[in-house]
Amino acid sequence: MSSDLFSSSQVSTVIIPANEMEKQGEISSRLVLVLYPFQGHINPMLQLATIFHAKGYSITIVHPEFNSPNPSNHPLFTFISIPDNLLESNVSLAPADFMNLVSALNRNCAAPFMKCLKQILDEKHPHERISGVIYDGLMYFAQTVADALGLPGISMRPTAAALLLFSVIPHSEQEYVFESQIPELQPLELEQMLKSMSTNTTETMAEVRAAALDATKRSSGMIANTIEFLEHAALSRIREYSPAPVFAIGPFHKLAPSSSSSLLQEDGSCISWLDKQAPKSTIYVSFGSLASLSKKDIVEIAWGLVSSEQPFLWVIRPGLVHGSEGMELLPDGFLEKVGDKGLIVEWAPQQEVLAHEAVGGFWTHCGWNSTLESVSEGVPMLCTPCFGDQFLNMKYICYVWRIGLRVETELEREKIQGAIKTLMLNIQGEDIRNNAMEFKRETQLCLREGGSSCKSLDEFTDRILSV
Ligand code: UDX
Repeated sequence: MSSDLFSSSQVSTVIIPANEMEKQGEISSRLVLVLYPFQGHINPMLQLATIFHAKGYSITIVHPEFNSPNPSNHPLFTFISIPDNLLESNVSLAPADFMNLVSALNRNCAAPFMKCLKQILDEKHPHERISGVIYDGLMYFAQTVADALGLPGISMRPTAAALLLFSVIPHSEQEYVFESQIPELQPLELEQMLKSMSTNTTETMAEVRAAALDATKRSSGMIANTIEFLEHAALSRIREYSPAPVFAIGPFHKLAPSSSSSLLQEDGSCISWLDKQAPKSTIYVSFGSLASLSKKDIVEIAWGLVSSEQPFLWVIRPGLVHGSEGMELLPDGFLEKVGDKGLIVEWAPQQEVLAHEAVGGFWTHCGWNSTLESVSEGVPMLCTPCFGDQFLNMKYICYVWRIGLRVETELEREKIQGAIKTLMLNIQGEDIRNNAMEFKRETQLCLREGGSSCKSLDEFTDRILSV
């Protein structure tokens, strides 16, 4: 973690046609985007950058030194690294330390970001203006800096919009609203989540929530990586309460031409392996970039997959089991028994995998990106949430949208085998499979010109970026 302020800075060349501003008055517009440095947040922010670049905006990505993205994967953007002064203890990936990390990043990055933004303003071309600062909702210091410099601050939400209900509805009304007012959202059990949030609150958690809420209130708008039809009830309620307008323009990855922002090396060999499998035959298994499993879980998953008799593609990333590379935990005789009926990789090109016709099911930890990526391709899900928002996402998938089945956290091979067969083969899973395909069709409509996500994107640029 060096303290070189502009260590990975690169200058971009704009090759995309001019935006509205350029057409009207020869002024070009730049957006400054502030990353939260974890895979599930880096992906949607870089996708959003790609969307705005295609609309004619120049893009500067500001990121902490920790988990820096690779600028060479995005040659059209300018990358600026700011010192984060994180200690080793801050970057423990244990979910329990999450709030300390968020708090440390907000404390440590505010002053360097102010310096960086002033420098961008000083150096900018006379015919360029900064149209806004778009920051990950967890990097709320960026709103304060944007306010101080008179720039619009926009919060990007990479999780389900429903989580915003906790931020925008006044505390005194939350219990009442969640218990009685939103019948469509009853299966999400928001009141239970509220209770667990208030009983487990630490001082840091309370401080982070209050500061994030305050920033949200001062923001010019919020961009949510969600789709209007998926979260209509939550979005309507949020709009009733939120002083800042909310724009649902997801799923970002479908509006952004693909470019990898993986921190781990993607193993593309799985695509040629998938090419050899029958349509909708294969279960894809991945628990995202942070979730962890026990050694026993690995053994149960391994035998559950074998006994399902379906081809499988399984991501075992290093660290999926703490302190282990993963592969060495596979039971004796497992790989021989599987032969070429299954493939294990350390990291997959997930969007491509889910879009592959051989994939007929996704066993997921229900991270929001994975959820949206699966919804977009009509792939039904088996759900094993591990922490945080993943429980809420699981409830959406299984009980509101009905495009998935829950697999209890206590993993057992017989239950795994049964769940895979129900999801992919048995008559009991037919409605789930049909619903998933219907969701794919709905998503495609939203992404067309005149569809809700496209309209929302246009509205955002007109209302927020053109003032
Ligand atoms: C985290 C939280 O855990 C999640 O709940 C929150 O909503 C976002 O931040 P993560 O756990 O990594 O994210 O899950 P997810 O949101 O699904 O993001 C993982 C990303 O990594 C996805 O975009 C997925 O496509 C990508 N991925 C995953 C790969 O590219 N290859 C893989 O092998 C696995």
